[in-house]
Amino acid sequence: IFSQVTLAPADPILGLTDAFKADTRAHKVNLGVGIYKDEAGQTPVLSSVKKAEAILLETEKSKNYLGIEGVQAYNQVVQGLLFGENSKIITDKRAATAQAPGGTGALRVASEFLVRNTQSTTIWVSNPTWANHKNIFETAGLTVKEYRYYKAETHDMDFEAMLTDLEQAQAGDVVLLHGCCHNPTGIDLSLAQSQQVAQVCLAKELLPLFDFAYQGFGAGIDEDAQGLRAVAAVVPELLIANSFSKNFGLYNERIGAVTVVAEDEQAATNSFSQIKKNIRANYSNPPAHGGLIVSTILSDATLRQEWEAELTEMRQRIAEMRTLFVDSLKAEGVEQDFSFISRQNGMFSFSGLNKQQVARLKDEFAIYIVGSGRISVAGLTKNNMPAVCKAIAQVL
Ligand code: LMR
Repeated sequence: IFSQVTLAPADPILGLTDAFKADTRAHKVNLGVGIYKDEAGQTPVLSSVKKAEAILLETEKSKNYLGIEGVQAYNQVVQGLLFGENSKIITDKRAATAQAPGGTGALRVASEFLVRNTQSTTIWVSNPTWANHKNIFETAGLTVKEYRYYKAETHDMDFEAMLTDLEQAQAGDVVLLHGCCHNPTGIDLSLAQSQQVAQVCLAKELLPLFDFAYQGFGAGIDEDAQGLRAVAAVVPELLIANSFSKNFGLYNERIGAVTVVAEDEQAATNSFSQIKKNIRANYSNPPAHGGLIVSTILSDATLRQEWEAELTEMRQRIAEMRTLFVDSLKAEGVEQDFSFISRQNGMFSFSGLNKQQVARLKDEFAIYIVGSGRISVAGLTKNNMPAVCKAIAQVL
């Protein structure tokens, strides 16, 4: 049976990490996968997380199963982060949240709910989008279509084209939107553009599905939720898949959540019951540790303040690296204008480097970036910056 199985291609992002690990060159730099590095090039456990873990070590009494929806206190604090504390969606009980194994797990649960329990069969994603989106949605059984989003010539948003393409969508189609820090371009819809997209969704009866993996990495916790909240204020129904891999540095705890917002409490209850049924058939119920860490931090004023300060530090270091990146490229004699990098948000920069240039960076300079030209700016440091910029100057 297994001799018929063919070799799958390496994952465009995680496959790169495997190749990086196998590379024996001491000066190698990994700017592929989206992982935050501090100035020393490390990805340490946040101090607020360590403290929450110490509390859990003392207070946890049992490793009994969680309910299908996970840690209940966690699901409440997730809604506060998404919609704002005491938002009307929460008090009207129109939202229901289940803990999920990372943003990927949340997207998969949301997709299976759509396929099994609704009439929606097609999802529209931005071109370009995160390399795993198509994989998740197609595996769950959705048909993936693309809307234009990015204009390579101007390194900017192509909003008119996005609206034109969404005109082709049919009632019941799903529109994937990145909550903030668009992956891979770093270019986000403005608040006014989000409001316009919300009106399109309302008029055409399209269902927004938010992938919200970088809250706090753009401008701030509430600022980054502006677009999501603007859409949620207009449309009757939406889905959200969020992740705490980046903003809590909990990458390997696989901690995220899937949230359904329905027209009223009864529809939310019904939809949530089906989401739970899908989870039960998939992984039964989630692992506890990540959810307990996040709920412990967010329910304790001091720990929450410490986490917010750590998040601010990460955001500011990335912003500093963006500016330094632009300046260093110039200093290396690169004549092409890379100032657009300082206007992008979040962990990533869509550099415009082509496949050959990306391959040369890897082969000749041991610098790893994603094939699309996406660079994880969060992996740049003052130490590796000169070598990275020299190499880019060479391949240009
Ligand atoms: C990325 O885009 O690098 C991250 O979201 C990590 C991943 O799973 O691909």
